[in-house]
Amino acid sequence: MKHIMNILITGGAGFIGQNLVYSLRKQGFGIRILDNFSPQIHVTQSLPADLVDQVELIRADVRDRDALEQALAGVDGVVHLATETGTAQSMYQIAHYNNVNSQATAQLLDVLANAPHSIKKIVLASSRSIYGEGAYNCETHGLVYPGARSAAQLKSHQWDPVCPQCGASIVAVPTPEAARPSPASIYAATKYAQEDLIRIAGDSLGIGTAILRFQNVYGAGQSLNNPYTGILSIFSTRIRRGMSLPIFEDGQESRDFVHVSDVVQAIELALQTDAANGGTFNVGAGEPTSVLEIANMLVDAFDGKVRPEVTGQYRLGDIRHCYADLTQIRSKLRFEPKMSLKSGMEEFASWVLSQPLPEDGLDKANEELKKRKMMS
Ligand SMILES: NC(=O)c1ccc[n+]([C@@H]2O[C@H](COP(=O)([O-])OP(=O)(O)OC[C@H]3O[C@@H](n4cnc5c(N)ncnc54)[C@H](O)[C@@H]3O)[C@@H](O)[C@H]2O)c1
Ligand SMILES: [Zn+2]
Repeated sequence: MKHIMNILITGGAGFIGQNLVYSLRKQGFGIRILDNFSPQIHVTQSLPADLVDQVELIRADVRDRDALEQALAGVDGVVHLATETGTAQSMYQIAHYNNVNSQATAQLLDVLANAPHSIKKIVLASSRSIYGEGAYNCETHGLVYPGARSAAQLKSHQWDPVCPQCGASIVAVPTPEAARPSPASIYAATKYAQEDLIRIAGDSLGIGTAILRFQNVYGAGQSLNNPYTGILSIFSTRIRRGMSLPIFEDGQESRDFVHVSDVVQAIELALQTDAANGGTFNVGAGEPTSVLEIANMLVDAFDGKVRPEVTGQYRLGDIRHCYADLTQIRSKLRFEPKMSLKSGMEEFASWVLSQPLPEDGLDKANEELKKRKMMS
């Protein structure tokens, strides 16, 4: 018998949410979802048919206090996923991102602080974006955390950050949770605010909390229609349409791609393990993959004809490298990523091919950034 049996998942109709719901239902947990089916993400305004009878759905905005009160009644755990997730979009929808991400989290905690409840655990989906650049090693200065690359540096195509103390070349290393947070986007700032709100209120209210900082999550169910997130979604649509795959910078920038099944594993461990309480944990594959490499793997998984094309374009606020140090989550939660990138990519491609072919949204999203001088 697990501690937590009835779980509210905010944003449970989304990518990570649905994958989590399928897994928890298989294990017999009671699930309630609070989700407004944000039109930017959801083409179909409903849950998949096989989930409809399996969960209780509250179709409402996470900013709505009455809906939150109703959603929190009678459950013993919360997985808080409902968020706007477009990093670039957050730079010009600042108040909206702050409302949906930070203010709604404050509202959720406010409900718990002011009425009786039965919540024993809150798990927050946070993000590696709160780090900004990841950790690097300088031969002279050891572990260093370079700040964001300047517009001038990017303009001269000097892609790699340098040692903040001596200006020497540095090498990316796994980023530990103790890294100094340095959010470089409004999205990241709101995720960091969520962390503080949940950690502090959880402590004062005596509710166990676990903060999970996800790296780049991919897999079946990710939104293929939101042009503001997810390089793998954007590229898979373009591969299917035979369109070019423009790669920013020199293509050597890297990310830590983690399969959604491993993220679900981490959330379940965080929910049920007391040793998670009060903790903050990286969730990733723990390995860097360059954007050029991932694009090539994706083309291969689709048997596609187009090849990625390095354009030297760049976006202000993008980081160069970040990948997870998994020491903490391995030792405290016994987490181990299980899905290899190759198998994960094949599974993702075959799922994408079972989906309707979306419009390509990349050019439009890039135009918005150029108009605002955030991309060159
Ligand atoms: N996918 C990733 O790579 C990634 C990486 C780091 C962190 N995360 C975090 O994980 C969480 C889930 O991400 P996801 O990839 O499943 O995103 P998603 O966009 O697929 O899902 C988010 C869900 O939240 C819902 N939502 C949005 N605004 C809402 C509102 N105002 N009221 C109610 N519901 C609302 C959407 O309808 C959607 O179903 C987010 O908190 C995100 O910040 C995701
Ligand atoms: Zn140095």
